[in-house]
Amino acid sequence: MKATAIANSNLAFVKYWGKKDEKLRLPENGSISMILSGMETKTTVEFLANLKKDDITIDGKEDNGRVSLHLDRIRKVADIKTRAKVISKNNFPSSTGLSSSASGFAALTLAGTKAAGLNLSERKLSILARKGSGSACRSIPGGFVEWKSGDKDDESFSYTLFPKTYWDICDIVCICSSEKKDVSSTEGQKLVSSSPFYNSRIINIEQKLIRAREALKKRDFTMLGQLAEEEALEMHAIMMTSKPALLYLLPSTVQLMRFVMSERSNGTEIYFSLNTGQDVHILCKESDKDKLAKKLSEQDYVKKIIISKSGDGARLTEEHLQ
Ligand code: PMV
Repeated sequence: MKATAIANSNLAFVKYWGKKDEKLRLPENGSISMILSGMETKTTVEFLANLKKDDITIDGKEDNGRVSLHLDRIRKVADIKTRAKVISKNNFPSSTGLSSSASGFAALTLAGTKAAGLNLSERKLSILARKGSGSACRSIPGGFVEWKSGDKDDESFSYTLFPKTYWDICDIVCICSSEKKDVSSTEGQKLVSSSPFYNSRIINIEQKLIRAREALKKRDFTMLGQLAEEEALEMHAIMMTSKPALLYLLPSTVQLMRFVMSERSNGTEIYFSLNTGQDVHILCKESDKDKLAKKLSEQDYVKKIIISKSGDGARLTEEHLQ
């Protein structure tokens, strides 16, 4: 059977950076995020008896193997041995810090399990997606999402805290270079304990999760924005002080961070966030979105912008990719 799924990327306000179990991808701490409406991966999976090995194409290129490993997990649950043909397309760049692995592994998990004849619950899909890429478990449910870290495989999953219509905050995603990062987040995360700052992060993380839940509950933009920016800076401080050091920021990334700070001191309330890579997320109120999008498009260090709001979780579609 053939199945196609669409899943969106997500932006974490409280980040996942570091694992307590490498193999199961159990995170050191919980995290809280928002699905990004404008950033989608669409994936078609078909299990075909005549294939000798998996045939995987992502954005027109053959894949390196992480997808095949995830198909093995799906085959194990479905108790089948058949190889699969997979075609996947992103409507945004990959490997520049926009979390295409989150949308990619969420779409693959839903399409793959459906194509294998399974009908898994949202919780089970989220657990399975997590093993492909941690942040992918937060791209299964919709809206504003929390990932409970959990201490066992079946306890580490994500669920919706608030639906997408709950709050109309925007994320103006700024693509500042198409340069691919040279260290993946999977590899980067293995270095966390070499940073002298990681321990203090873990000591304070529960407080941050409480702050994020409260900011969402009260729809307090200042509280959420300050926390998101603080988190991005703390995560990059840990990256930069890991051994060997990880430096994902490009000159254009720093220009965008300074743009945000300068707009804020001029009275427009905006905040930045970053993931593993150079591209920048700018959180703003709906009422400021158009003015900011125009201004950002005029900066020579911004290559492209994508405007996102809170969006849907992973879903099936009948429109298959060929
Ligand atoms: O899912 P991964 O392994 O690509 O981890 C990415 C984690 C960050 O994007 C850097 C932070 C987060 O919580 O999304």
